[in-house]
Amino acid sequence: MLNIILSGAPGSGKGTQSSFIAQKYGLQHLSTGDVLRAEIATGSELGKQIDALISKGNLVPDEMMYGVIENYIAGLPQDCKGTIFDGYPRTVAQAESLTQLLKKYNMDAIMIDLLVDEQLLIQRLIERGKVSGRADDNLNTIRHRIAVYHQQTEPIAHYYLHHGNYFAVNGNHTMADVFLQIMRVIELARPDKR
Ligand code: AP5
Ligand code: MG
Repeated sequence: MLNIILSGAPGSGKGTQSSFIAQKYGLQHLSTGDVLRAEIATGSELGKQIDALISKGNLVPDEMMYGVIENYIAGLPQDCKGTIFDGYPRTVAQAESLTQLLKKYNMDAIMIDLLVDEQLLIQRLIERGKVSGRADDNLNTIRHRIAVYHQQTEPIAHYYLHHGNYFAVNGNHTMADVFLQIMRVIELARPDKR
């Protein structure tokens, strides 16, 4: 089983690289951002609460995310080769909870951190905002998302570093170059091949 946590700031390329990895290694791709946006699209009361947070660039409370992840893992097919967690965990509490949950199913994960310069993040998201229709792809909200990332998500790097399963990748390069670096990390680190 190959589980990969793909972390990084907004616009670092998590979604882009997750698709490449999923295809190459036959993994499932779980983007918590996509799950939350799908809930918003249903127009439910919960969706409205989520929308109020996401559109301002704030994180959804940890408690709301735990159920999503638990249901996802419990529903994995027997023949699943592994998952790419795209945008989860995003807080140290989520990281601790995921470690416990994976342990319960006899699984573990490696964490790949996409490191990208802030100017480039902003440039990519402004560009995407022209076509994405995402409520959070505007300059003010992008800046706030990046600040939230530094405050709440960046500390998970230390968590995984401490646990010995942290791998940094320079995400400033072309999509193809970044994917090459990621493949190298996966081949080196594959917990399922150790
Ligand atoms: P989420 O959907 O995860 O958004 P995000 O973290 O802000 O990141 P993005 O999806 O904007 O960027 P990305 O890193 O996927 O980059 P992409 O590949 O698209 O989360 C949205 C919100 O949901 C959060 O703010 C939060 O409110 C909530 N949420 C989600 N998970 C949560 C959790 N666990 N807990 C609490 N709340 C949660 O690339 C961006 C653009 O750049 C694209 O146009 C792409 O084509 C381009 N690009 C990518 N790579 C390159 C490259 N190498 N060179 C040039 N262009 C590139
Ligand atoms: Mg994304």
